[in-house]
Amino acid sequence: MTRTRLLMLFLLLGIASLCFTGCSDDCDDPATPVVKPTDAVFVGSAKCGECHETNYDEWVASGHPYKLTKIEGVSPDASFPAHSAFPNDPINPPVGMDWTGVSYTIGGYFWKMRFIDMDGWIVTSGAALDPVQYNFHVEDPEDGNWVTYHTGDEQGTKPYDCGKCHTTGWVDNPDPTDLTANQDGLPGMWGTFFAGGIHCEECHGKGSNHAASPTTVSMLVDNSSAMCGRCHTRDAANRIAASGGWVKHHEQYDEWLHSPHNLYGGPGCNDCHDPHASVVYDDVTPGEGMKTSCTDCHDATEYALKAGAHSFVTPECTDCHMPQLAKSAAVNPSNPYDADVNSHILAINSAPVAAADGMFTADGKFVKTENGLARLTLDFACYGCHQDSDGLGGAAPVRTLQQLSDYATGIHPNAKRLARIAQR
Ligand code: HEC
Ligand code: HEC
Ligand code: HEC
Ligand code: HEC
Ligand code: HEC
Ligand code: HEC
Ligand code: HEC
Ligand code: HEC
Repeated sequence: MTRTRLLMLFLLLGIASLCFTGCSDDCDDPATPVVKPTDAVFVGSAKCGECHETNYDEWVASGHPYKLTKIEGVSPDASFPAHSAFPNDPINPPVGMDWTGVSYTIGGYFWKMRFIDMDGWIVTSGAALDPVQYNFHVEDPEDGNWVTYHTGDEQGTKPYDCGKCHTTGWVDNPDPTDLTANQDGLPGMWGTFFAGGIHCEECHGKGSNHAASPTTVSMLVDNSSAMCGRCHTRDAANRIAASGGWVKHHEQYDEWLHSPHNLYGGPGCNDCHDPHASVVYDDVTPGEGMKTSCTDCHDATEYALKAGAHSFVTPECTDCHMPQLAKSAAVNPSNPYDADVNSHILAINSAPVAAADGMFTADGKFVKTENGLARLTLDFACYGCHQDSDGLGGAAPVRTLQQLSDYATGIHPNAKRLARIAQR
C-alpha cells in the first residue's frame, strides 16, 4: 500500500470512528483489513466443497473425515464410504450393547473400531474380559475379530480425551466436572469440537471469512511435515515407540524424523502424499494418494538388485524398504512378520540380526537410532515374502538371516552410484 493511500485510509477511519461509538478493534490499527481471518468461525467442509470440488471429492473418500462418528441409535453403515472397512464388515456393538447405547464410534475406516457409551466414556473390557475392540482385516473381512481393550479399567473410567488428533476444532476441558465444556455435556468426553474427524478447517484454519470473500482473505496452507506430525506422532520426544516386537501406530512423523529423507535432505510428507487423497484405498478413490513413487527420484537402473535372486519376481522398492512393521489393529494371521501399518523408517540394516537385537532397545520400548538414523532389520525387510528357518513368513523360499544378509549386503551394486556415495 502506498503512503498516500495509507494516509487516506487513516483519514477515512478517523472520520468513521468519530461517527460510530463502541468502535471495534479495527480502529486500533488502521492498516488492518476490515475482515480479519482471526474473526473467522468454522463453516464446515460442505461449504468449502462448493468451490473446491476436487479437493472435497478426494478428502470425503479418504480416512480423515471418519475418525469419530456420531451414532443416531442405528448402525452407522451409511456414514462410511462404500469402499471402507465398516460397510464391508458391518458389525454390531460389543456383547451387552446395541446401537442405542453408543454415542460415537472411533475408527471403522480401515484398521479397527472402538465404541463410546452414552455418557461419553470409551467402552473398556470388564472383569469378564469382554472383547470391545473390533479389528478389521481389510484384505480378508472373514478374518475380522474382537479383542479386549484396557482390561484393567472399569467401564465408565476411560475418558475420551483423544480429540486433538481425531476431531476438528478440539478444545480441551481442564475441568471435566464442568459438563458445559464437554461435548454434548457428556461426563466422559473431556472437551468440545466442531466436527468429528479431520476436516478442511483443521488443517487450513477457520474459513468463514475466506468463504465469504475468497480473493481478499486467504487460508492457511502449511506444507510442513511437522503439521502432519501434530497427529501422526506418539512420543513427546519423537522417539519411535515400540511394544510387543512392533512399532506402535500413528508414528509416521517420528519415523520420518529418523529416516534418511529427513536427515539427508529428502522429501517430506507432502512431497510424496496428496494430503487430501486416500493412500490406504488409493486404487479405488478419486485422486492420487501417492503423488510420486521412489523411482521418480531414485534412478531405477541405479537401484536394480544384484544378480543371484529375484529373477522371476522383482520386489517393489516399498516391499523391502517400507514393510508393515507397525501395528494398529492386528498382525497378519498367516505371517508373524507382517502387521498393518507401513513403516517410514526406510533405511535397512543388512547385518544378520533379528529385530529384537538389531532394531529395538533392550527393553523393547523404542527403536534404536545411531546419529539420528533408525534402520529396519532383514526379518522385517524380507520375511514379508520369505520364510524363516521355522517356515514362518510369506510364500517365498526359506532363507536364514545369514543367507539374507549375504545377498542383502551391497544389494544395489551400481558402480556409478557407489562412486557418488564415496565422494560425500
Ligand atoms: C465461494 C467460493 C469458495 C469457498 C466457499 C471456499 N473457497 Fe477456498 N478458494 C476460493 C478461490 C477462488 C481461491 C483462490 C484465491 C486466490 O487465488 O486468490 C481459493 C483458495 C483456497 C486455498 C489456497 C490458498 C493459497 O494461498 O494457496 C485454500 C487452502 C482454500 N481456498 C481452502 C478453502 C477452505 C478450507 C474452504 C472452506 C472453509 C474454502 N476454501 C472455501 C474459493 C472458495
Ligand atoms: C490433513 C490436512 C488437510 C486437510 C484435511 C485438507 N487439506 Fe487442503 N491442503 C493441505 C496441505 C498440506 C496443502 C498444501 C499441499 C501442497 O502444497 O502440496 C493443501 C492444499 C490445498 C489447496 C491448494 C491447492 C491444492 O489443491 O494444492 C486447496 C484449495 C485446499 N487444500 C482445499 C482443501 C479443502 C476444500 C479441504 C476439505 C475438503 C482440505 N483442503 C482438506 C492439507 C489439508
Ligand atoms: C488433526 C490430526 C491429523 C492431522 C493434522 C493429519 N492427520 Fe492424517 N490421520 C489422522 C487420523 C486420526 C487418521 C485416521 C483416520 C481414520 O482411520 O479414519 C489419519 C489417517 C491418515 C492417512 C490414512 C488414511 C487414508 O485414507 O489413506 C494418511 C495417508 C494420512 N493421515 C496422511 C496425513 C498427512 C500427509 C497429513 C499432513 C498433510 C496428515 N495426515 C495430517 C489425523 C491427522
Ligand atoms: C497424537 C495424536 C493421537 C492421539 C492422542 C490419539 N490418536 Fe488414535 N490415531 C491417530 C492417528 C494419526 C491414527 C491413524 C494413523 C495410524 O494409526 O498410524 C489413529 C488411529 C486410531 C484408530 C484406528 C482408526 C481406524 O479407522 O481404524 C483408533 C481406533 C484410535 N486411533 C483410537 C484412539 C483412542 C481411543 C485414543 C485416545 C485414548 C487415541 N486414538 C488417541 C492419532 C492419535
Ligand atoms: C518417500 C515418500 C513418503 C514420505 C516422505 C512419506 N510417506 Fe507416508 N506413505 C508412503 C507410501 C509409499 C505409503 C504406503 C502406500 C501403500 O499402501 O502401499 C505411505 C503410507 C502412509 C500412511 C498409511 C499408513 C498405512 O497403513 O500404511 C500414512 C498415515 C502416512 N503414510 C503418513 C505419512 C506422514 C504423516 C508423513 C510425513 C511425516 C509421510 N507419510 C511421509 C510414502 C511416503
Ligand atoms: C521426491 C524425491 C524422492 C522420493 C519420491 C523418494 N526419495 Fe529417497 N531420497 C531422496 C533424496 C533427495 C535423498 C537423500 C540424498 C540421497 O541419499 O540420494 C534420499 C535418500 C534415500 C535413502 C537413503 C540413501 C542413503 O544414502 O543412505 C533411502 C534408503 C531412500 N531414499 C529410499 C527411498 C524409497 C524406498 C522411496 C520410495 C518409497 C524413496 N526413497 C522416495 C529423494 C526421494
Ligand atoms: C515381494 C516378495 C519378496 C521380497 C520382499 C524379498 N524377496 Fe527374495 N525372493 C522372492 C521370491 C519369490 C524368490 C524366488 C524367485 C526368484 O528368485 O525370483 C526370491 C529369491 C531370493 C533369493 C534366492 C533364493 C534361492 O532360491 O536361491 C535370495 C537370496 C533372496 N530372495 C533374498 C532376499 C532378501 C535379502 C530380501 C530382503 C532384503 C528379499 N529377498 C526380499 C520374493 C521376495
Ligand atoms: C529385495 C529388497 C530390496 C528392494 C526391492 C530394494 N531395496 Fe534398496 N536396499 C535394500 C537393502 C537390503 C539395502 C541395504 C544395502 C546394504 O546394506 O548394502 C538397500 C539400500 C538402499 C539405499 C541406500 C543405500 C544405497 O545403496 O544407496 C537406497 C537409496 C535404496 N536401497 C533405494 C531403493 C530403491 C529406489 C528401490 C526400488 C527401485 C529399492 N531400493 C529396492 C533392499 C532392497
